[in-house]
Amino acid sequence: MDQPIHQDGASTQAQGAPGSGEMFDTIAERYDLLNRVLSLGLDGSWRRRAVRALQLSEATDTHVLDLAAGTGDLSFAIAAAHPKASVVGVDPSTAMLQIAQEKAQRIAVQERVTFQVGDAQQLELEEDSFDACSIAFGIRNVPRRDLALREMARVVRPGGRIVILELSIPRSGLMAWGARLQVDYVVPLVGGFLSGPQAYRHLRDSMHAFPSNDQFALDMGEAGLEVSSVDVLAPGVCTVFAAQVPAATGSA
Ligand SMILES: C[S@@+](CC[C@H](N)C(=O)[O-])C[C@H]1O[C@@H](n2cnc3c(N)ncnc32)[C@H](O)[C@@H]1O
Repeated sequence: MDQPIHQDGASTQAQGAPGSGEMFDTIAERYDLLNRVLSLGLDGSWRRRAVRALQLSEATDTHVLDLAAGTGDLSFAIAAAHPKASVVGVDPSTAMLQIAQEKAQRIAVQERVTFQVGDAQQLELEEDSFDACSIAFGIRNVPRRDLALREMARVVRPGGRIVILELSIPRSGLMAWGARLQVDYVVPLVGGFLSGPQAYRHLRDSMHAFPSNDQFALDMGEAGLEVSSVDVLAPGVCTVFAAQVPAATGSA
């Protein structure tokens, strides 16, 4: 590779734990296909909604942190929508980042979109060093979500946006029935075939274990973020949480 991936941080998770960088190392080659198939081709439009929720300025250069960047699709969607933006993608999985970096070179954005190894719970990044932060389908994999939320609040400047895109299971109604069918039966079948048993079990179990949208919005508030919107995306299995880092109150 022309450009090495920086080893700026280390995963604190146990080797091969469900959802860890090590687990994603083992499925990196099939991850994009798995994503398209299991989301029925909707993952791209969900990421574009997350990009819009970032509300980045068109006029000025913006510096965006994309946590759990994986194979880079959200980082690239941000760069495509905002030609003046630079994006740093962080993820503990070197195999996922390797693919991201190859894509960056293929679409010639490697000057603006860079990747480094790191753990969302403990970022080796300066305070207030980004204008915004995103994380797509990643917060579910982080064992201490509270630490990751606090790290987002720390590294984004006051007034900057935080956008979290995450899968969710509708709790009631017809959609809930369909979503449970997809998560409990389709995901194990298709995901198991494409990625092996550990990864698909993790996807199913972590979706069930993730808090309700209301609870997660409260968790974001507890971490010091000002939640501005919680939007469930069609067909109801994915949510965009948007928040601000509180503006600086000034010195006493
Ligand atoms: C489902 S993938 C999402 C990738 C990408 N954001 C996307 O939109 O396709 C989840 C990613 O979370 C990463 N991950 C796991 N534990 C993490 C942690 N503690 N901090 C940051 N990322 C983590 C995994 O390595 C994996 O690449």
